[in-house]
Amino acid sequence: MSAIKILVIPGSLRTGSFNARLAALAAKELALAGVEVTRISLADYALPIYDADHEAQSGVPRPAVDLKHMMGQHQGVLLVSPEYNASVPPLLKNAIDWVSRVRERGEPPLQVFRGRAFAIAAASAGKFGGMRALMALRQILTLGLGATVIPQQMALSAADHAFTDDDQLKDTRDAEALRGVVRQLIDVAQQMR
Ligand code: FNR
Repeated sequence: MSAIKILVIPGSLRTGSFNARLAALAAKELALAGVEVTRISLADYALPIYDADHEAQSGVPRPAVDLKHMMGQHQGVLLVSPEYNASVPPLLKNAIDWVSRVRERGEPPLQVFRGRAFAIAAASAGKFGGMRALMALRQILTLGLGATVIPQQMALSAADHAFTDDDQLKDTRDAEALRGVVRQLIDVAQQMR
Protein backbone atom coordinates (compact mmCIF):
# COMPACT_ATOMS: atom_id res chain seq x y z
CA MET A 1 0.00 0.00 0.00
CA SER A 2 1.30 3.48 -0.81
CA ALA A 3 2.37 5.84 2.00
CA ILE A 4 -0.38 7.80 3.63
CA LYS A 5 -0.50 11.51 2.77
CA ILE A 6 -0.94 14.27 5.35
CA LEU A 7 -1.41 17.97 4.62
CA VAL A 8 -0.11 20.52 7.16
CA ILE A 9 -1.64 24.00 7.16
CA PRO A 10 -0.28 26.75 9.43
CA GLY A 11 -2.87 29.40 10.25
CA SER A 12 -0.45 32.33 10.35
CA LEU A 13 1.56 34.21 7.72
CA ARG A 14 3.58 36.18 10.27
CA THR A 15 7.35 36.16 9.84
CA GLY A 16 8.67 33.95 12.63
CA SER A 17 5.17 32.65 13.41
CA PHE A 18 5.15 30.22 16.34
CA ASN A 19 2.41 28.26 14.60
CA ALA A 20 4.37 28.04 11.37
CA ARG A 21 7.35 26.77 13.39
CA LEU A 22 5.17 24.20 15.17
CA ALA A 23 3.69 23.17 11.82
CA ALA A 24 7.18 22.72 10.35
CA LEU A 25 8.18 20.54 13.30
CA ALA A 26 4.99 18.49 12.98
CA ALA A 27 5.75 17.99 9.30
CA LYS A 28 9.20 16.66 10.25
CA GLU A 29 7.67 14.26 12.78
CA LEU A 30 5.15 13.07 10.20
CA ALA A 31 7.93 12.46 7.68
CA LEU A 32 9.92 10.54 10.30
CA ALA A 33 6.84 8.36 10.83
CA GLY A 34 6.92 7.41 7.15
CA VAL A 35 4.14 9.66 5.97
CA GLU A 36 4.17 11.66 2.74
CA VAL A 37 3.81 15.26 3.97
CA THR A 38 2.79 18.44 2.19
CA ARG A 39 3.14 21.70 4.10
CA ILE A 40 1.49 24.69 2.50
CA SER A 41 1.18 28.40 3.24
CA LEU A 42 -2.18 30.12 3.04
CA ALA A 43 -0.26 32.98 1.39
CA ASP A 44 -0.42 30.81 -1.73
CA TYR A 45 -4.24 30.68 -1.49
CA ALA A 46 -5.07 34.38 -1.27
CA LEU A 47 -8.81 34.85 -0.77
CA PRO A 48 -11.08 37.86 -0.27
CA ILE A 49 -13.12 37.97 2.90
CA TYR A 50 -16.16 35.77 2.25
CA ASP A 51 -19.02 37.74 0.73
CA ALA A 52 -22.15 36.00 -0.55
CA ASP A 53 -22.59 38.70 -3.23
CA HIS A 54 -19.07 37.97 -4.49
CA GLU A 55 -19.91 34.26 -4.63
CA ALA A 56 -23.22 34.91 -6.42
CA GLN A 57 -21.56 37.14 -9.03
CA SER A 58 -18.22 35.40 -9.59
CA GLY A 59 -18.48 31.98 -7.97
CA VAL A 60 -15.99 30.59 -5.49
CA PRO A 61 -12.50 32.05 -6.12
CA ARG A 62 -9.98 29.71 -7.78
CA PRO A 63 -7.65 29.56 -4.73
CA ALA A 64 -10.47 28.08 -2.63
CA VAL A 65 -11.07 25.40 -5.26
CA ASP A 66 -7.31 24.74 -5.39
CA LEU A 67 -7.16 24.47 -1.59
CA LYS A 68 -10.08 22.05 -1.59
CA HIS A 69 -8.30 19.93 -4.22
CA MET A 70 -5.11 20.03 -2.16
CA MET A 71 -7.03 18.78 0.88
CA GLY A 72 -8.70 16.12 -1.25
CA GLN A 73 -5.32 14.69 -2.23
CA HIS A 74 -4.49 13.87 1.40
CA GLN A 75 -5.96 11.37 3.87
CA GLY A 76 -5.25 13.61 6.85
CA VAL A 77 -5.05 17.35 7.53
CA LEU A 78 -3.26 19.05 10.43
CA LEU A 79 -4.29 22.64 11.13
CA VAL A 80 -1.93 24.67 13.33
CA SER A 81 -3.74 27.80 14.41
CA PRO A 82 -2.97 30.93 16.39
CA GLU A 83 -5.55 32.24 18.86
CA TYR A 84 -7.04 35.68 18.26
CA ASN A 85 -9.44 37.00 20.89
CA ALA A 86 -10.11 33.51 22.20
CA SER A 87 -10.96 32.15 18.77
CA VAL A 88 -9.73 31.22 15.29
CA PRO A 89 -7.99 34.01 13.30
CA PRO A 90 -9.74 35.30 10.18
CA LEU A 91 -7.09 33.95 7.79
CA LEU A 92 -7.89 30.34 8.68
CA LYS A 93 -11.62 30.76 9.29
CA ASN A 94 -12.04 32.56 5.96
CA ALA A 95 -10.15 29.83 4.10
CA ILE A 96 -12.33 27.16 5.74
CA ASP A 97 -15.50 29.13 4.94
CA TRP A 98 -14.58 29.49 1.27
CA VAL A 99 -13.58 25.82 0.92
CA SER A 100 -16.91 24.86 2.47
CA ARG A 101 -18.62 26.65 -0.45
CA VAL A 102 -16.92 24.59 -3.18
CA ARG A 103 -19.34 22.19 -4.91
CA GLU A 104 -18.07 19.86 -7.62
CA ARG A 105 -19.24 17.00 -9.83
CA GLY A 106 -22.42 16.44 -7.87
CA GLU A 107 -20.47 15.30 -4.82
CA PRO A 108 -22.25 15.54 -1.45
CA PRO A 109 -21.84 18.85 0.39
CA LEU A 110 -18.70 19.17 2.52
CA GLN A 111 -17.33 15.89 1.20
CA VAL A 112 -13.74 17.14 1.50
CA PHE A 113 -14.21 17.67 5.24
CA ARG A 114 -15.98 14.37 5.80
CA GLY A 115 -13.72 11.99 3.94
CA ARG A 116 -10.49 12.42 5.89
CA ALA A 117 -9.02 12.80 9.38
CA PHE A 118 -8.25 16.19 10.92
CA ALA A 119 -5.95 17.15 13.76
CA ILE A 120 -5.56 20.54 15.40
CA ALA A 121 -2.72 22.28 17.21
CA ALA A 122 -2.05 25.80 18.42
CA ALA A 123 0.82 27.87 19.77
CA SER A 124 0.68 31.07 21.77
CA ALA A 125 3.01 33.06 23.96
CA GLY A 126 0.19 33.06 26.52
CA LYS A 127 -0.42 30.50 29.22
CA PHE A 128 -3.41 28.82 27.54
CA GLY A 129 -1.39 27.94 24.45
CA GLY A 130 -4.26 28.77 22.12
CA MET A 131 -6.61 26.30 23.84
CA ARG A 132 -9.68 28.47 23.19
CA ALA A 133 -8.82 28.69 19.49
CA LEU A 134 -8.63 24.89 19.49
CA MET A 135 -12.07 24.63 21.10
CA ALA A 136 -13.49 26.98 18.47
CA LEU A 137 -11.70 25.20 15.63
CA ARG A 138 -12.91 21.80 16.82
CA GLN A 139 -16.47 23.14 16.89
CA ILE A 140 -16.18 24.58 13.38
CA LEU A 141 -14.79 21.33 11.98
CA THR A 142 -17.05 18.88 13.82
CA LEU A 143 -20.37 20.70 14.27
CA GLY A 144 -20.07 22.99 11.26
CA LEU A 145 -18.52 20.68 8.73
CA GLY A 146 -19.02 17.12 9.98
CA ALA A 147 -15.30 16.43 10.06
CA THR A 148 -13.62 13.74 12.13
CA VAL A 149 -11.20 15.54 14.44
CA ILE A 150 -8.92 13.27 16.46
CA PRO A 151 -9.21 13.57 20.27
CA GLN A 152 -5.53 14.38 20.80
CA GLN A 153 -4.54 17.99 20.24
CA MET A 154 -1.69 20.26 21.17
CA ALA A 155 -1.79 23.69 22.83
CA LEU A 156 1.76 25.00 23.08
CA SER A 157 1.93 27.69 25.77
CA ALA A 158 4.82 30.14 26.27
CA ALA A 159 5.62 29.54 22.61
CA ASP A 160 8.02 32.49 22.57
CA HIS A 161 10.36 30.40 24.76
CA ALA A 162 9.37 26.90 23.66
CA PHE A 163 11.72 26.38 20.72
CA THR A 164 15.45 25.78 20.54
CA ASP A 165 17.53 27.70 18.00
CA ASP A 166 17.15 24.78 15.59
CA ASP A 167 13.36 24.76 15.99
CA GLN A 168 12.97 21.71 18.18
CA LEU A 169 10.75 21.84 21.29
CA LYS A 170 12.77 22.39 24.46
CA ASP A 171 10.35 20.60 26.79
CA THR A 172 10.20 16.84 26.32
CA ARG A 173 6.51 16.85 27.38
CA ASP A 174 5.72 19.26 24.54
CA ALA A 175 7.70 17.10 22.10
CA GLU A 176 5.84 14.00 23.30
CA ALA A 177 2.46 15.77 22.99
CA LEU A 178 3.26 16.64 19.39
CA ARG A 179 4.28 13.06 18.64
CA GLY A 180 1.03 11.86 20.22
CA VAL A 181 -0.99 14.05 17.86
CA VAL A 182 1.05 12.88 14.89
CA ARG A 183 0.67 9.19 15.79
CA GLN A 184 -3.08 9.42 16.33
CA LEU A 185 -3.60 11.43 13.14
CA ILE A 186 -1.77 8.77 11.14
CA ASP A 187 -3.75 5.96 12.80
CA VAL A 188 -7.15 7.56 12.16
CA ALA A 189 -6.23 8.67 8.64
CA GLN A 190 -5.22 5.07 7.88
CA GLN A 191 -8.53 3.78 9.25
CA MET A 192 -10.48 6.27 7.12
CA ARG A 193 -8.54 5.52 3.96
C1 FNR B 1 -3.74 37.86 19.70
N1 FNR B 1 -3.04 36.98 20.52
C2 FNR B 1 -3.71 36.17 21.40
N2 FNR B 1 -3.06 35.17 22.09
C3 FNR B 1 -3.74 34.34 22.91
O1 FNR B 1 -3.15 33.43 23.48
N3 FNR B 1 -5.08 34.51 23.10
C4 FNR B 1 -5.79 35.48 22.48
O2 FNR B 1 -6.98 35.57 22.66
C5 FNR B 1 -5.10 36.36 21.61
N4 FNR B 1 -5.75 37.35 20.94
C6 FNR B 1 -5.12 38.04 19.93
C7 FNR B 1 -5.85 38.90 19.12
C8 FNR B 1 -5.24 39.52 18.05
C9 FNR B 1 -6.05 40.40 17.16
C10 FNR B 1 -3.86 39.34 17.82
C11 FNR B 1 -3.19 40.01 16.64
C12 FNR B 1 -3.13 38.53 18.63
C13 FNR B 1 -1.61 36.82 20.37
C14 FNR B 1 -1.28 35.81 19.30
O3 FNR B 1 -1.55 34.51 19.76
C15 FNR B 1 0.19 35.94 18.96
O4 FNR B 1 0.33 37.12 18.21
C16 FNR B 1 0.74 34.75 18.24
O5 FNR B 1 2.15 34.92 18.14
C17 FNR B 1 0.14 34.60 16.87
O6 FNR B 1 0.55 33.39 16.29
P1 FNR B 1 1.80 33.31 15.29
O7 FNR B 1 1.63 34.38 14.24
O8 FNR B 1 3.05 33.52 16.11
O9 FNR B 1 1.72 31.94 14.72
